[in-house]
Amino acid sequence: MPSLQFKGKVFVENHHLVVPFHELQPVRSRGLSKKASLHDNLIVEGDNLAALKALLPTCHGKVKCIYIDPPYNTGNESWVYNDNVNSPMMRDWLGKVVDREDLTRHDKWCCMMLPRLKLLRELLRDDGAIFVSIDDNEVHRLRFLMDEVFGEDNFLATAIWQKNFSPKNTAKYFSEDHDFILVYARSIDEWTPNLLGRSEQAIQRYKNPDDDPRGVWSSSDLTARNYYSLGTYEVTSPSGKTFKPSVGNYFRVSPDKFAELDKDGRIWWGPRGGSMPRLKRYLSEVKKGVVPQTLWLHSEVGHTQDAKKELVSVLDFERSEDVFNTVKPTNLIRRILEIATDKDSIILDSFAGSGTTAHSVLALNKEDGGNRRFVLIECEDYVDFITAERVRRVIKGIPSAKDAALKEGLGGTFSYFRLGKPMRQESLLDGSNLPDYEKLASYLFFTATGEEFAPEQLRRDRWLIGTSRLYDVFLIYEADTEKLKDMALTLEVARKLPRTNRDKLVFAPTKYLEPEFLHRYRITFQQLPFQIYEAVGQSGADSG
Ligand SMILES: C[S@@+](CC[C@H](N)C(=O)[O-])C[C@H]1O[C@@H](n2cnc3c(N)ncnc32)[C@H](O)[C@@H]1O
Repeated sequence: MPSLQFKGKVFVENHHLVVPFHELQPVRSRGLSKKASLHDNLIVEGDNLAALKALLPTCHGKVKCIYIDPPYNTGNESWVYNDNVNSPMMRDWLGKVVDREDLTRHDKWCCMMLPRLKLLRELLRDDGAIFVSIDDNEVHRLRFLMDEVFGEDNFLATAIWQKNFSPKNTAKYFSEDHDFILVYARSIDEWTPNLLGRSEQAIQRYKNPDDDPRGVWSSSDLTARNYYSLGTYEVTSPSGKTFKPSVGNYFRVSPDKFAELDKDGRIWWGPRGGSMPRLKRYLSEVKKGVVPQTLWLHSEVGHTQDAKKELVSVLDFERSEDVFNTVKPTNLIRRILEIATDKDSIILDSFAGSGTTAHSVLALNKEDGGNRRFVLIECEDYVDFITAERVRRVIKGIPSAKDAALKEGLGGTFSYFRLGKPMRQESLLDGSNLPDYEKLASYLFFTATGEEFAPEQLRRDRWLIGTSRLYDVFLIYEADTEKLKDMALTLEVARKLPRTNRDKLVFAPTKYLEPEFLHRYRITFQQLPFQIYEAVGQSGADSG
């Protein structure tokens, strides 16, 4: 299978594995929750590569729908490549704005996207899907990257979003009126779309000119070009006219079935009973919704001007030029939520911008009584005064809003976190920046077992940090260099571990026990910090 090659690819292919886990520090003053929690709606401030990794312990395999709107790499966005990849060539890329003159701009973009897509895949549920906005600058390269990370077989669709309200006559060659949204399932056999409600326009097409007691109906052609051996008969209408399918066409039902349908009043012969027969389809009997289509018209999901107006009206910006050019309409995200989420789904947007995804999630929850949760990540300074501010305002209500729900406030809560210190092996070795007990416990438990850390299982007096499918996991540790020097898995400590017949995984700086003893007590010892990463490899919890 052909694959995409680009400069730096060899260095980034496994980069997501070596990105260190970072602490997530709550900033209570910026959130709208009594108690900050990683199980609340979330806004995370920081680079999404580190932030996605930091979310793995709590969100691994839990996200039902990812929507991302990364830089399109137009050459005018002032984005910089900033990943700390171990390659001299790529270190030279750091901090430099990627503009049109940059001959490596597509390489840089692919290097930025690949590790992020790999982490995003880790976060998706088996029945989840990812939607990625993009335009012609990178759509072809993105398709290759998505095929590589999610698998060609999991491709679902390329939706076309008609983003412009009117054509751009100033364009040199073509007025570019659409963006693409690439859609991939985590696993195509597990994913099913929600059917969408029929539009008012579609419902209006159902009428009842013959006062049929089954209610309004529309009709469809009873003939088709597909060969059908029983489909060449002649029928006589109530007014006495005879009809046969035209040459090369066939009735879609047998003569017996036709007679049965006619007797049941399901054949429409026209207002005077003398037209070619058609099959009636009752609104009450058709599927409750329609399968999603790939063409998303601005009249249904909004256009870029709608999006700017929405943002301006929430944030009181004086002029729409002051706000993002890239902001998306809430109805565009709503379409995605309608197709790909249930009422209790988690939705992740790791290129959050002005927070449209959070706004849409809260609006839909308010409308249908849902309990969807959003997780947003944004690295720019405006994460507080635009992204979080928009969310705070729509939750509390916008007095000037035309929409009644928005005026009243969409309700809900959210917690704000900032990326903290990385948990590095070196910091455990030299004692600098030691993570606190619970943070290290959460990280170790997830990396060793691949399962979510549950703080309520923690029993610090017995060093127990959690119970996974295979192990009881223990951590003998204190965030204090002096104490740490004397801590070890000793006979005394081992005897205090609960006597269950389950395997025990014990993390400690050292051990003073014989292998036979460990074996007898079903203890697998993991030395801090060296074996953290080995444990990761064994469990496969963090493999790409
Ligand atoms: C195209 S905008 C998203 C607009 C958003 N959909 C909206 O409706 O407002 C892309 C956003 O991703 C952010 N971004 C880019 N690289 C990032 C990174 N490495 N980590 C976190 N955010 C990033 C940018 O700062 C920008 O706000």
